[in-house]
Amino acid sequence: MIKIAVLVSGSGSNLQALIDANLSGKIVGVISNKPEAYALERAKKNGIQTAIIEHKQYPNREAFDDVMHQQLLAWNIDLVILAGFMRILSAKFVQSWEGKMVNIHPSLLPYYKGMHTHQRVLNTGDTLHGCTVHYVTAELDAGQALAQGVIQVNLHDDAHSLTQRVHVLEHIIYPQAVEWICNGTIQHLENGNVLYKGQHLEKPIQFCNV
Ligand code: GAR
Repeated sequence: MIKIAVLVSGSGSNLQALIDANLSGKIVGVISNKPEAYALERAKKNGIQTAIIEHKQYPNREAFDDVMHQQLLAWNIDLVILAGFMRILSAKFVQSWEGKMVNIHPSLLPYYKGMHTHQRVLNTGDTLHGCTVHYVTAELDAGQALAQGVIQVNLHDDAHSLTQRVHVLEHIIYPQAVEWICNGTIQHLENGNVLYKGQHLEKPIQFCNV
């Protein structure tokens, strides 16, 4: 059975969705860089061990990442899931977990990498928005996209309503994409290619809620 670690910084609603999904992999541990993250409570309530690794306590990114790396090795982790983990990871860490680490980002990548995606979508006047599950590579928010959830932006939407509407889709597509990895429907090959049901994945699997 695939052993999963979830890295969090905040509320952990995506962690909750992953817990509730009864994945065929096992969530072995949750790491937070913030001691106050509510995600830690969610883990404890579900009997999942936690580790608080505060980035502020380390002199640089590499030192912080190295402690996380050691914790993941100690838990014997096969798959790392970033779920609202708000730290940029060092190239060395990303390389160590390449093909074994996924993230969810609140935009239709490759559009709106980085922060404040909902407000940026509103500022541009886009009619479509959503979220993307992708493999993590050294370049921020640029790894192979596996799944996308799409919503239509309505006239009355603001950043708050978009956050909520995108969250609803995140809670559907993230557990689904992770389950596909756990059960072998999605495979990451050593040469970096990604297969879905044995075929090269050309573009992310789309879920629409327009
Ligand atoms: C989610 O919307 C996720 O897409 C976003 O943080 C939120 C965490 O919510 N992640 C990023 O912006 C990463 N760049 P949660 O703590 O309730 O799961």
